[in-house]
Amino acid sequence: MSEAAQTLAPDSIDAPASEFPIPAGVFAEKVVSVQHYTDRLFRFRITRPQSFRFRSGEFVMIGLPNAAKPVYRAYSVASPSWDEELEFYSIKVQDGPLTQHLQKIKPGDTVLMRPKPTGTLVHDALTPGKRVWMIATGTGIAPFASLIRDPETYEKFDEIVLTNTCRDVAELAYGNELVAALRDDPLIGELVETRLKYVAATTRETSPLMGRITTRIEDGSLFAGLGVEPFNPDVDRVMICGSMDMLRDVKALVEKAGLVEGSVSNPGQFVVERAFVG
Ligand SMILES: Cc1cc2nc3c(=O)[nH]c(=O)nc-3n(C[C@H](O)[C@H](O)[C@H](O)COP(=O)(O)OP(=O)(O)OC[C@H]3O[C@@H](n4cnc5c(N)ncnc54)[C@H](O)[C@@H]3O)c2cc1C
Ligand SMILES: NC(=O)c1ccc[n+]([C@@H]2O[C@H](COP(=O)([O-])OP(=O)(O)OC[C@H]3O[C@@H](n4cnc5c(N)ncnc54)[C@H](OP(=O)(O)O)[C@@H]3O)[C@@H](O)[C@H]2O)c1
Repeated sequence: MSEAAQTLAPDSIDAPASEFPIPAGVFAEKVVSVQHYTDRLFRFRITRPQSFRFRSGEFVMIGLPNAAKPVYRAYSVASPSWDEELEFYSIKVQDGPLTQHLQKIKPGDTVLMRPKPTGTLVHDALTPGKRVWMIATGTGIAPFASLIRDPETYEKFDEIVLTNTCRDVAELAYGNELVAALRDDPLIGELVETRLKYVAATTRETSPLMGRITTRIEDGSLFAGLGVEPFNPDVDRVMICGSMDMLRDVKALVEKAGLVEGSVSNPGQFVVERAFVG
């Protein structure tokens, strides 16, 4: 074992051998399962280091042991904080420095993870409210996949609305499967059935619900479809995750409704986080 490998966190010492030494101070975890949804999207689960703690909704930096200086990218942990494994939902960018390789991982392979989670899409960044809206586009559903599986979400809010808008129907598969599995869950299935509302829509392929989330907020159809009143600072809390354009536009609508942005150090009525840069 190289000197660098010997400095690993104790959880990572039995990680599979790599051509390159595992950098000091990062977890080296094993891939447990991989599921491909489209030629652009997949999810994978890895072992969870025993000492790794995070808050549902946070992100970590992950990489591959395929270079002396691995490329790390931000990834929302899609599994809830109580889960024994860690789940990630990922894009495949054809020439992407990380995902051109990451999309090829198989069970038993090694994924590197920096030990410090962070992020604003956490309960602590929101003041109490009645209803929480989780507004996602594309892979922006990942942090919400964590939060809707966390019992604390149901303790803190009476109603949870998850909206997921993608270009095509196939891109909704991960969210659809996730919600269906949660409704069948023997422990919280009943709770989810009555308290979680899931609104899945497309913008470029015909599906039962079409249109950008911004259009549906502005024309009121989002609220009418659920039988609820438009955003109200006394009632609603909003979490937003998507492209920078989507964040800018949804944020403007939420602010127009009178909600004030929060952060972990200064909780508020809505929070935003980029699903990717560029
Ligand atoms: C806070 C934060 C959390 C993130 N969480 C996730 C996550 O949970 N899952 C995930 O797949 N990515 C996530 N990302 C994006 C991720 O960090 C990488 O950009 C992505 O894995 C691609 O890496 P790459 O090195 O292959 O290409 P990069 O060089 O990083 O990206 C190349 C280009 O691909 C496009 N792109 C990158 N990521 C995405 C994406 N997720 N969806 C659509 N287009 C994209 C952009 O146009 C970007 O300029 C997150 C980013 C941030 C800032
Ligand atoms: N999805 C694909 O099939 C595909 C294929 C190849 C490459 N790419 C590239 O990958 C990158 C990300 O694509 P993506 O589909 O994951 O994410 P995206 O472009 O952010 O689109 C995801 C969803 O967000 C909607 N959206 C975009 N901007 C918005 C805004 N300002 N307000 C409200 N809704 C908004 C889109 O609607 P609209 O459809 O109306 O934009 C779409 O439904 C892009 O650079 C894209 O060119 C995507």
